[in-house]
Amino acid sequence: MSDSIRITGHKPLHGEITVRGAKNFVSKAMVAALLGSTPSTLRNVPDIRDVHVVTGLLALNGAQVDYDSESGVLTVDPTDVTPAPADDVSVHAGSSRIPILLCGPLLHRLGSAVIPDLGGCKIGERPVDFHLEILEKFGAEIEQRGDGLALSAPRGLHGIKHRLAYPSVGATEQLLLTAVQAQGLTYVENAAVEPEIKDLIDTLQKMGAIISVDTDRSITIEGVDTMHGYDHTSLADRIEVGSWASAALATHGDIFVHGAQQRTMGMFLNVFRKVGGEFDVLKDGIRFYHPGGDLTAIALQTDVHPGFMTDWQQPLVVALTQAKGLSIVHETVYEQRFGFTEALVKMGATVQLYRECLGDVACRFGASNFQHSAAISGPTPLKAADIDIPDLRGGFSHVIAALAAEGTSTVTGAGIIDRGYENFRAKLTALGAEHE
Ligand code: EPU
Repeated sequence: MSDSIRITGHKPLHGEITVRGAKNFVSKAMVAALLGSTPSTLRNVPDIRDVHVVTGLLALNGAQVDYDSESGVLTVDPTDVTPAPADDVSVHAGSSRIPILLCGPLLHRLGSAVIPDLGGCKIGERPVDFHLEILEKFGAEIEQRGDGLALSAPRGLHGIKHRLAYPSVGATEQLLLTAVQAQGLTYVENAAVEPEIKDLIDTLQKMGAIISVDTDRSITIEGVDTMHGYDHTSLADRIEVGSWASAALATHGDIFVHGAQQRTMGMFLNVFRKVGGEFDVLKDGIRFYHPGGDLTAIALQTDVHPGFMTDWQQPLVVALTQAKGLSIVHETVYEQRFGFTEALVKMGATVQLYRECLGDVACRFGASNFQHSAAISGPTPLKAADIDIPDLRGGFSHVIAALAAEGTSTVTGAGIIDRGYENFRAKLTALGAEHE
């Protein structure tokens, strides 16, 4: 499939699409299956590249993964988990952030783990210091190898008391996946409580884990000796839902998203309504539409759950270029998530970036040199341009901008979108978009 897509825009998107399971849950649930003594079944799994990458990683470690893309049913049989050959592991270097989460399960299963260097979107430094600190505290010994890490746990893994410096999603998952079979009690303060993490906790509980979450975002895990396989249906991908909703708004469209779940979209729906979008929550999904008239500028900051998630920010900013007045967006999760606005400016948008925190609260990037606040002045008509995709969510935002713009845009690097958006070209066709 071509890595670029040509889009002739300025036509409202109309129609129905289906969004399946969440990329940022499914990949972790696949890793969790390594902790079971029997096979696991995961349902509602989307056919996206990240699922294939994790399948490859699990297979390298001896797990048998079968996936039927039509039904969305994926099974992982961890019976024959074995250490991956170090040379083969390096093939996966740079492909994803998930390998770091294999550490705990592999240490429990095998007493050792070899993982490749991480990849993922370039939206900031994205260090793994929290992960390594946690693993060492549990008792892992970590050796940096040329293109990855080698871990062992000669004295086993033991429960810890830990306060996260920031409620990192990945670090919280690291804690969960390691603590469930560590000896004794683990207590975590300042944990992330995203819906995807809640689904991971539910999955681990089905497997035999004992985990409780308190209202103050602390999590207590009582280690158990053995766990078994699970049968679980993934929550919907709320990032993809928010992306299509933003596309409806930016193009004056009307999109019914089958599978969208209100319980995971609360903060997005509030903001969508404040901007001037309309939505109907129906039995099988949510209809998002532009009701006509002016959209309203807003002030917004991204935050960890239950705040407005950072991954909704990029698609929504495209819609904000069409809102009347000055919108302010303060990005507090990643220090460099506004790179995609360069293309919007090229297409006619008025976006000014600031180093300062332009939000209610000063965030941890306030004292650094990162342009992590944006002022967007609208409405500005967008015109077609040739644009290159910087990262997954920024990339989808480029597609939305091209759909809203007058003329034919060429968007290069579109292959990255397949990492997290299932069949997005077919969905564009279903919504009446003109593209090739
Ligand atoms: N951080 C550290 N040290 C660490 C880990 C994180 O400083 O060891 C910092 C990060 O640099 C970032 C902040 O903590 O500034 C939050 O990062 P977090 O660990 O929460 O993110 P993540 O687990 O790497 C997941 C999603 C992201 C999503 C974030 C926030 C996956 C595979 N990725 O990343 O999704 O933006 O949580 O919700 O689950 C995407 O889907 O496009 C995507 C980037």
